[in-house]
Amino acid sequence: MSAPVFSALWSEIEAIGRVGSGGYLRYALDTPDLVLRDWFRNQADRRDLPVTDDGNGNLFAWWGEPWGRDAVLTGSHFDSVPHGGGFDGPLGIVSAFLAVDQLRADGHTPAKPIAVVAFVEEEGGRFGLPCLGSRLLTGAIEPAKAAALTDRDGVTFAEALGATPAGALPGLTSRIGALIELHIEQGRQLDAPVGVASAIWPHGRWRFDFTGHGDHAGTTRMADRRDPMLTFAYTVLAANKEARLAGAHATMARVEVEPNATNAIPSLVRGWLDARAADTPTMDALVEAVVKRATERAGRDGTEVAVTAESISAEVAFDTALADRLSALLGDAPILPTSAGHDAGVLSAKVPTAMLFVRNPTGISHSPAEFAEPADCAAGVDALAEVLRELT
Ligand code: GLV
Ligand code: MN
Ligand code: MN
Repeated sequence: MSAPVFSALWSEIEAIGRVGSGGYLRYALDTPDLVLRDWFRNQADRRDLPVTDDGNGNLFAWWGEPWGRDAVLTGSHFDSVPHGGGFDGPLGIVSAFLAVDQLRADGHTPAKPIAVVAFVEEEGGRFGLPCLGSRLLTGAIEPAKAAALTDRDGVTFAEALGATPAGALPGLTSRIGALIELHIEQGRQLDAPVGVASAIWPHGRWRFDFTGHGDHAGTTRMADRRDPMLTFAYTVLAANKEARLAGAHATMARVEVEPNATNAIPSLVRGWLDARAADTPTMDALVEAVVKRATERAGRDGTEVAVTAESISAEVAFDTALADRLSALLGDAPILPTSAGHDAGVLSAKVPTAMLFVRNPTGISHSPAEFAEPADCAAGVDALAEVLRELT
């Protein structure tokens, strides 16, 4: 595939959901995402690929019998983190359509159905739970629980979807033979156009509710304050320190404050911890250490802290035989782990799954600066087509 052919299709979606920051606001099932989902249906129509959905918000465009045995799924997600980049997610969907084009141009007749897939709400940017669509598809979350998740305006997932989600696909393991997710690489680990994933670090999100006593910023004596902002601030620093000590990653990047007034001591500060590590015991120990330090500090500040685990994604080891096979097929493509979460990680609990990574020259992701060269994206399409040919 040539870079201009890649760029021609890529340019069709480049402006959708892009805002002044240069980043994207593509919240699941919100207007830009709905435009992208229409684009998906149009692309499928242009190629005579019938589209089905699974009642959970995930879309499938079929080359071959919908939900026939051992289908090979390939795709990713349209939604972005707030003000994120344009590649994380959509690159896998655009590449999947182009790989189908390439296979057809080569005269390939698949022996198994191939489906281009768009998973819903991968980032958890709207409803708070990452990989919501793939969790529903695989039965990793109860439909009723997913239905009740709310966005920041109080809209439930069921309302946004227009129905209670259907939940696990019956006969999933015989219907899906494999999932191949192509994705932009998100670290600085890949120095070749295309690589193959070996593993995903375990990771999760914990909500910390720090409560204290709201009062007047001008009149309350310093000694009399019970200020949860102090406990929060200490916890942010403690999370950073504990992660460094453990060789792990911890981030507190989202915060809500009540009443959020310049001249009022807050009554509530709500902060979210994103924690990741190479193995589960290290991640668990990291979170335990952060909670312990937050709790001790709350005791000194006269505040309280309550911690809720909002989502946990287990450690993923992708199918080694499949990764080795794909690496060999692609001329000894590098095999590398990632600390970013993916729908492929969720699917890997049920079906053979692999990921292809496309080089990211800066490693920057979840930021407007996220970028991949068109020539590398075209190489990604070639690799994906090669893999789909081999598997079907
Ligand atoms: C998803 O991209 C994540 O790793 O948070
Ligand atoms: Mn992401
Ligand atoms: Mn992604």
